[in-house]
Amino acid sequence: MSKGLFITFEGGEGSGKTTVCRYIYERLLAEGIDAIYSREPGGVDIAEQIRNVILSVKNTAMDVRTEALLYAASRRQHLVEVILPALEAGKVVICDRFIDSSLAYQGYARNIGIDEVWQINKFAIDDCMPDMTLFFDVEVETGLKRISNRGEGLDRLDRENVNFHHKVHEGYKIVCEKYPERIITIDASQKVEDVEKQAYELVINRIRKNV
Ligand code: TMP
Repeated sequence: MSKGLFITFEGGEGSGKTTVCRYIYERLLAEGIDAIYSREPGGVDIAEQIRNVILSVKNTAMDVRTEALLYAASRRQHLVEVILPALEAGKVVICDRFIDSSLAYQGYARNIGIDEVWQINKFAIDDCMPDMTLFFDVEVETGLKRISNRGEGLDRLDRENVNFHHKVHEGYKIVCEKYPERIITIDASQKVEDVEKQAYELVINRIRKNV
């Protein structure tokens, strides 16, 4: 059993999870809590290289199972290099996306099957599941409007059509029902300050329960 605490943040495009994730990480550090922040796909050099292959807009020919395997490969490397050592050292790991993204995006939205994608990820993560997951729930149209307002380049998955993003949302709902004891849903359509406050309370209470 690891000594630290593994907390993941999930949601569709424009759910605001990355902003909230960073806020929580900074606030934990300010409280003197030994925490690390990381993200998927990526977080370490090999995994970032895999991220670039997956998200490159050039790779329109990518097969859906190839995509699922690449996410799992990137996850494995990130787990071994970053997450497991941090948990062993007793740290709180704040991670922007993890296995539930693969279940919702590849398992459900890409129609591979949630159970099939779970199997390849089981091989990749070796039973290291998050202790707590926050799901940032926002209407698909609201989320997509937020990302188009950012004015940043859109990656290969951002560019999927709106039906795909609706399927991702449905996929997340199914995953949330599958793991009610682990995943907590937050209404991410609220003002960002309110979402941050609510998410921080949940995280800090879980950390206090762990000591
Ligand atoms: P990001 O926008 O949060 O950086 O994530 C990059 C994209 O990768 C996003 O569209 C969600 C997608 N993704 C998957 O499809 N499966 C996964 O397992 C992960 C971690 C991300």
